[in-house]
Amino acid sequence: MNNPLYHDIAAQIRSRIGPFEPDTLIILGSGLGALGHEIANPVIINYADLKGFPQSTVSGHEGRLIIGSLCGHNVICMQGRIHLYEGHDPQSINTIIKAFQILGIKQLIVTNAAGSLNPQMAPGSIMLIKDHINFSGRNPLAGYNDDALGPRFPDLSNAYDADIRHQVHQLAHRHNIELFDGVYLMVLGPNFETAAEIRAFRTLGADAVGMSTVPEVLCAVHSGMKVLGLSVITNFGTGMKEGTQSHSETLAQANSAAQKLTTLVKCYLQENPNG
Ligand code: HPA
Repeated sequence: MNNPLYHDIAAQIRSRIGPFEPDTLIILGSGLGALGHEIANPVIINYADLKGFPQSTVSGHEGRLIIGSLCGHNVICMQGRIHLYEGHDPQSINTIIKAFQILGIKQLIVTNAAGSLNPQMAPGSIMLIKDHINFSGRNPLAGYNDDALGPRFPDLSNAYDADIRHQVHQLAHRHNIELFDGVYLMVLGPNFETAAEIRAFRTLGADAVGMSTVPEVLCAVHSGMKVLGLSVITNFGTGMKEGTQSHSETLAQANSAAQKLTTLVKCYLQENPNG
């Protein structure tokens, strides 16, 4: 069985961008859409205008591709992502990433908003993802495997590329940006966690918790892409401080930390013209 949908989506995008050769995919998380506005000579394609492309339904996620140049790279930026808690089939994330692989994407820069499990890592912090725990119970690679596009059993030992992480830490140091390093744990959502779950996740070795990123990273690694992952910490995990959790608080904190994240991503791209 073949899945022609990603070939079809790639062809629809190709017909809009002509000979433009994208090398980098950037996925912007909740409240982090601002970087998309810095892309020069953009071709903007609404997800709704791509036949077969899943639609994003969450406030703070705009639902469009911005394709153009950023800091010496040809980028495709997803402004608004697809979450499994919206009810999407996990394989639809694979479909998207495979379409981008077919278009020539070699690296993924993925960002998200996340809750902190580390008392030292306060809201407004940025965390470089060094590894993940897939606690979602879902996997976008389950099902048919297109051997021409990636292996049945992908290796995740260097999913978040060690050389890139080293370089981004140096970059953060140079720009005086405090950058934490940690393990991201993905839950399915859409509820925020219970206090008992947060205690359990800390015991498991996670530093941050969120509802995204892992599916895209699994598909990117399967596609042979290098991955840089960054979390904006928007809140402490439930039970780590007084009060309740809310999506509006997530968006407010993400906006305030977005500048640091934007600086890191732009400097990384600038320093790696062939990366
Ligand atoms: N839990 C899960 N996802 C999140 C959180 C959280 O506390 N904050 C932002 N995204």
